[in-house]
Amino acid sequence: MKMKPHLLLQILLFFLATFTTNTLSKQQQPPSPSSSLVSQLNQQLSQKKTRPSNETIYKVSKQLCWGCIAESLEFLFRHNLVRATKWELPLMWDFQLEQYARWWASQRKEDCKLEHSFPENDFKLGENIFWGSGSDWTPSDAVKAWADEEKYYTYATNSCEEGEMCGHYTQIVWKTTRKIGCARVVCDSGDVFMTCNYDPVGNYVGERPY
Ligand SMILES: *[C@@H]1O[C@H](CO)[C@@H](O)[C@H](O)[C@H]1NC(C)=O
Repeated sequence: MKMKPHLLLQILLFFLATFTTNTLSKQQQPPSPSSSLVSQLNQQLSQKKTRPSNETIYKVSKQLCWGCIAESLEFLFRHNLVRATKWELPLMWDFQLEQYARWWASQRKEDCKLEHSFPENDFKLGENIFWGSGSDWTPSDAVKAWADEEKYYTYATNSCEEGEMCGHYTQIVWKTTRKIGCARVVCDSGDVFMTCNYDPVGNYVGERPY
C-alpha cells in the first residue's frame, strides 16, 4: 500500500510540531529579567505612565537576544517597539524557535509560497508569515506590514474589519506570548519569505490580545 505524499507530509509535520512543542514546553518559564535594565523597562511598562524610549527598548531587546545575529535583533526590536505601544512586556529571542522558523523558511525557498507550517486550526506555535517581491525586504518591513493591521482591529468588539486581516497584529501584541524566533530567506525566485514563530501561541478565539 502506498501512502499519498501529502498524507505522509502531514504526518511528518504533526510529529515535528509535537516534538517542537514538547521540547519548548520543557524549558518554558517567564522571562527572568536578569539585568536591571530589563526589569526597569518591565516596571515602566507595568506602571503605564511614561513611554519607554526607542533606545531603551533597543538596549533591552539586545539583552534579550544574547548571542543572536543582527537580523534576529531587528526582528525582536521591531516586535518590542510595537508591544510597548500597548504596554506589553518585551519578547525574548529563542534559538529553538529560530531553528524551527529557519527550517520552515528553507522549505519555502524553492516556491516562496505564503504558506503556514501548521495546518489550519492546529497551530502549535504562533506563526506570522510574509512574502515580498524582490530581495530587499527586511525584518522591519515584515513587522511593519503585520503591525499595520492595527487599523483594521477594533478592541471593543475584538474583531477585524470585514474582509481584512488583523491576526498578525494581535499575535505581535498578545499579552501572554513570551518568546519569538524568526527567519528570512531569499527564495530561488529572488523574492523574500519571512516567518516568525511565537510561544506561547496567541490569537485564542474569543480572547483579547491585551
Ligand atoms: C520610535 O520608533 C517608532 C517605530 O519605528 C517610530 O515611529 C518613532 O518615530 C520612533 N521614535 C523616536 C523618538 O525615534
